[in-house]
Amino acid sequence: MSATVRVKASGCYDVVIEKGIMASAGEKCKALFGTCKAVIVTDDKVAPLYLRKVKESFTSAGYETAEFVFPNGEQSKNIDTLAELLEFMAENRVTRSDVVVALGGGVTGDMAGFAAAVFLRGIRFVQIPTTLLAMVDSSVGGKTAVDLKAGKNLAGAFYQPDLVLCDYDALDTLEPETFSEGMAEVIKYGVIFDKELFNLVKNGDVKANIEKIITRCVELKRNVVEADEHDKGERQLLNFGHTIGHAVEKCSHFGIPHGNAVAIGMVIAAKASSAFGWSEENCTDEIIEALVNNSLPTKTDFSAEELYDVTLNDKKRAGGTISLVVPEKMGKCVLRKVPVEQVLDFIKSGI
Ligand code: GLY
Repeated sequence: MSATVRVKASGCYDVVIEKGIMASAGEKCKALFGTCKAVIVTDDKVAPLYLRKVKESFTSAGYETAEFVFPNGEQSKNIDTLAELLEFMAENRVTRSDVVVALGGGVTGDMAGFAAAVFLRGIRFVQIPTTLLAMVDSSVGGKTAVDLKAGKNLAGAFYQPDLVLCDYDALDTLEPETFSEGMAEVIKYGVIFDKELFNLVKNGDVKANIEKIITRCVELKRNVVEADEHDKGERQLLNFGHTIGHAVEKCSHFGIPHGNAVAIGMVIAAKASSAFGWSEENCTDEIIEALVNNSLPTKTDFSAEELYDVTLNDKKRAGGTISLVVPEKMGKCVLRKVPVEQVLDFIKSGI
């Protein structure tokens, strides 16, 4: 089985969702660009699993390859690793006709994409996501970035890939907790846009439908990216659970993984929205049930005050307001600009 979603943004590209497609990545790229040099960027966790397969697929399609492997983890997504990658590309005499291939999860895609965006003012870029989170969210839509000491994703660019290949065979080697993190984003798409998707995943029995689930999430992401590529309005709906989720992440010094923090953030936002009378129906119990069935947390030990302090520094703050995403009903979220003074009460009623 295979599905293709076409994204028409500032760059137009296909997202192909297909079991085993990684092995034909070279042929797929050749059909788009002809042969050139492929810089394969990956981390030291993914490299032993898939680097050989991907490299062989490119070399047997006639590509020259160079591989850049960095230490796994968010701590690598910084200016220093980015600089090393850019120097590596320069040393390997990469030109504008060559391609950067991001093989891995969100960290790899974000950093390799930013390198592709700035090297020689922009070279071709292909994403081969290997985590569920990267397949359903971060590999599509062109957000690329690295973290700064002051916060996550503070230096980056909107830069659309030329092709995204989602090989869901790769999900078999994911740790269950990492798979669950991706499910937090899937549940997020369901709550924001699609009750049917939410119902499909709420019992946690998702493996048999994984191609359908990834495809639906990519379609929903495509719709929102085509409507608001540069994140000025509708795309901000994708931040459901993220504003307070980021605060949970930061309070835990990033000990709580992103997907788990988003899960907690969604519960707080849904419960608070209901308490504030902003929801037509209270979705909190349904969200909690879906999260629990997908092995995700629903509570935090941090106090409302702790989360509020961190939320105030969130980059989504604009003037005296913070944009929060809240569910009106299952499958429909809206953006609310909330005065900063109200945010503490909001978090208190959601916790
Ligand atoms: N991950 C949220 C976005 O791409 O806008």
